Amino acid sequence: MSYIDIQDVSRNYSQNGQTFCALQQVNLRISRGEFICLLGPSGCGKSTLLNILAGFDKVSEGSITIGGAPVTKPSVKHVTIFQNYGLLPWRTVEKNVELGLESLSMPADKRQKIAQKYLSLVGLKEFAQSHPAELSGGMQQRVAIARALAVDPEILFMDEPFAALDALTRMKLQDEISAINRSQHKTIIFVTHDIDEAVVLADRIVIMTPNPGRIKTIIPVDLHGQRDRTSPDFLRIRDHVFAEFSLKPADTTEYYI
Ligand SMILES: Nc1ncnc2c1ncn2[C@@H]1O[C@H](COP(=O)(O)OP(=O)(O)OP(=O)(O)O)[C@@H](O)[C@H]1O
Ligand SMILES: [Mg+2]
Repeated sequence: MSYIDIQDVSRNYSQNGQTFCALQQVNLRISRGEFICLLGPSGCGKSTLLNILAGFDKVSEGSITIGGAPVTKPSVKHVTIFQNYGLLPWRTVEKNVELGLESLSMPADKRQKIAQKYLSLVGLKEFAQSHPAELSGGMQQRVAIARALAVDPEILFMDEPFAALDALTRMKLQDEISAINRSQHKTIIFVTHDIDEAVVLADRIVIMTPNPGRIKTIIPVDLHGQRDRTSPDFLRIRDHVFAEFSLKPADTTEYYI
């Protein structure tokens, strides 16, 4: 049995007195430790699906189980990272990372040790006593990642977490989250608009289309941790994804010349 099982899921909203189908008949099975990217244009239901998986929203039809249990509400074993970091500005970086640990009965020195471990992992040990406003956007997003990892979650849900960052910072964080997925064996469901980002990160890319939101196709990324953005294999998969969106003819190679 798969770890996350999404079966025949539909989500209808009522908009101006009419029923709008944000997700229709979505089926997907995800293994433990898999890195899944949900990729598609605005309005195709990526965030809707992520929010339902994370327990913030409910299905209209169908079912979702994680580890065999139906998803009915947010779980402490799963964390969600949003685009806007969600840091508390009055707390230091270290105290932000400790936030999720405070509901567990844990001595303060142990909390601090865990916070330092994850701040080191994301390269921010020296900034433990800074406040979020003193950090760049990329550094703030690293704090949010450290905070998420500190509670040792089984699943990370990420909704366009790097969208507000410049291209170079974004690439660096992509490499970091990819390394974290491999070293910490976390299951990651990651929403993005960005084709290159999906090819860099995913084990499988789930391509969605809007009106109604559906899964169009699923593309396995068989790069085995070798995510060199200029390698022929990388470009081959990128090509395949572009073709799915009909952004280029599938049989041209001249695109890269
Ligand atoms: N609470 C809601 N009430 C009514 N309609 C909604 C609600 N949430 C989402 N929708 C609709 O469902 C569709 C899918 O929305 P969703 O936010 O999942 O898209 P998305 O793929 O994440 O888009 P984006 O890339 O712009 O973030 C949209 O057409 C949106 O208008
Ligand atoms: Mg969205």
